[in-house]
Amino acid sequence: MALERLDKLLAAQGMESRREVKEKIRRGLVLVNGAAARSPDLKIDPDRDQVTVEGTPVLLKKNLYLMLNKPQGVVSATEDPHQPTVVDLVPQELRRKGLFPAGRLDKDTEGFVLITDDGAFAHRILAPKNHVPKTYLARLDRAIDPSVAVEFQKGVRLTGEDQCSPAQLTILEPGDNPLVEVVIHEGMYHQIKRMFQRFGYQVVALKRIRMGGLFLDESLPLGACRELTPAELVQITQGEDKPSP
Ligand code: URA
Repeated sequence: MALERLDKLLAAQGMESRREVKEKIRRGLVLVNGAAARSPDLKIDPDRDQVTVEGTPVLLKKNLYLMLNKPQGVVSATEDPHQPTVVDLVPQELRRKGLFPAGRLDKDTEGFVLITDDGAFAHRILAPKNHVPKTYLARLDRAIDPSVAVEFQKGVRLTGEDQCSPAQLTILEPGDNPLVEVVIHEGMYHQIKRMFQRFGYQVVALKRIRMGGLFLDESLPLGACRELTPAELVQITQGEDKPSP
């Protein structure tokens, strides 16, 4: 990546103004690769150089893409006066202005949430016309009739005007509380729960395990998040109708 001015890059993270950044550099509080930055117009490589401000590492990438393993009890919002949000779970060293969840999971749903500050990318993977598949595991309240898979494949008409596109249902564990996998291509309000309700089933537990071609990292504990690699980012777009970048 091209070299850029230190003060401009730091101010672009949104946490501080350029004037505040310059003042911190002047006071020797900004280190580049372990050494105090000499001047605000120092040119650095945001992808390679390690920068700390008052001892805290700063991420200088243009955009940030995080995989969160969302626990139950957390809302998919940026802020909420009464309840913890998915953005509250982002650790301090990964925090930056403008982070939001790209797509919502219900408060009682677990699993893969992408948190980013890249609105265009979020739009791309969420727009129904791009058909990026989202894969869920659902536990149901009673034995499932295999004919439901045929109905899902036809595209379920939900209450109101909501018409789902074809979805794939696979029975993983039959029995009185079956475990099923469902792949959908849009993200309507309570979509999976409503699809099952339409045929008289209740979803008792729901977890998102995959977005596009990228699986939830099962080594990520509930409530933890980590940055995606560039290759993983491309994997998310796999399965969409448009070609990958
Ligand atoms: N469908 C639902 O019903 N809930 C979710 O959280 C996600 C998909």
